[in-house]
Amino acid sequence: MNTGDRSVLLHELVRYATLAPSSHNTQCWKFRAQGNLITIEPDLARRCPVVDPDDHHMFVSLGCATENLMHAALAYGLKANAKFNASGMGTVSISLDATKALASPLFQAITERQCTRGDYDGKPLSMEELRLLEQAARGNGVAVLLLTERSAMEKVLEYVVSGNTAQMNDPAFVEELKAWIRFSNDEAVRTGDGLFSGSSGNPAMPRWLGSRMMRLFFTPKSENERYARQIRNSAGIAVFVSDANDKAHWVETGRCYERFALQATSLGIRNAFLNQAVEVGSIRPQFAAALGLGHLRPDLVVRFGRGPALPWSMRRPVQSVLV
Ligand SMILES: Cc1cc2nc3c(=O)[nH]c(=O)nc-3n(C[C@H](O)[C@H](O)[C@H](O)COP(=O)(O)O)c2cc1C
Repeated sequence: MNTGDRSVLLHELVRYATLAPSSHNTQCWKFRAQGNLITIEPDLARRCPVVDPDDHHMFVSLGCATENLMHAALAYGLKANAKFNASGMGTVSISLDATKALASPLFQAITERQCTRGDYDGKPLSMEELRLLEQAARGNGVAVLLLTERSAMEKVLEYVVSGNTAQMNDPAFVEELKAWIRFSNDEAVRTGDGLFSGSSGNPAMPRWLGSRMMRLFFTPKSENERYARQIRNSAGIAVFVSDANDKAHWVETGRCYERFALQATSLGIRNAFLNQAVEVGSIRPQFAAALGLGHLRPDLVVRFGRGPALPWSMRRPVQSVLV
């Protein structure tokens, strides 16, 4: 392969990586691609210090991008080997070696996956579907709890409501969130990032109107009622928990979550995060205790089930994320 073709291929792999989820759709990553190596670095200009003070979600997002890149590499005949380097802020290095191409079902799901924040149909999944999800989410030092009993899901709801109430009563949280909301189509397309209103099932409108509507209608009560309804119409809740609370494990958690999400997508199952109880530092230990996790940190909370798709969220072009 000549250098030009190689560079086109590496850029295509980066494009697949950028289709991964990231907290508030910040796309908090930068890529260096050369020869047989791609490095993913956190983009510190895209931190969210209020919702993510220790950069946990930022490194989980890098893990999600890593996982996409690895499946895409294999589809193009490259076996990827990912390693976390703890030096500096922490980066992920992915080396690529020639192998037989395989476009796996998880690769094929990359362009179909989305975080679907709408209502689900309330029907349970089969044992085989739950087994496949659990298997996909298993990782090195990361476990997933799949809660499908109604009593366990109601217990999670209590903590989601406490976390959400705390966040929505925190003006700094609301300001940071608002800065990442893209109220109109124009805003979403122009920035190529952030939380597009349509992707949350809300109507698109100009920013001045969206900000006013948010003040009027985005209340702890209305949001908590929506979470209660949406947990009750989900088939289950997945809680990701890692063995250690460090960046290497946060990246691994992101990889496990992304495999879970791609496996779900390939089975026609949707998912959406409900991270409030793990984001609020004062509630997280109580939530961990209620789940019987002892000293372990619950990393991510995700509901899943079947339901209609919502509009896709935007991505920035590959050129903007290459160093
Ligand atoms: C670490 C992490 C945390 C997230 N937390 C939440 C959350 O608490 N609530 C939510 O609705 N979405 C959450 N998201 C989903 C992102 O907002 C979503 O991935 C992003 O908007 C891009 O949309 P897409 O995944 O549909 O492509 C989270 C994503 C990641 C990777």
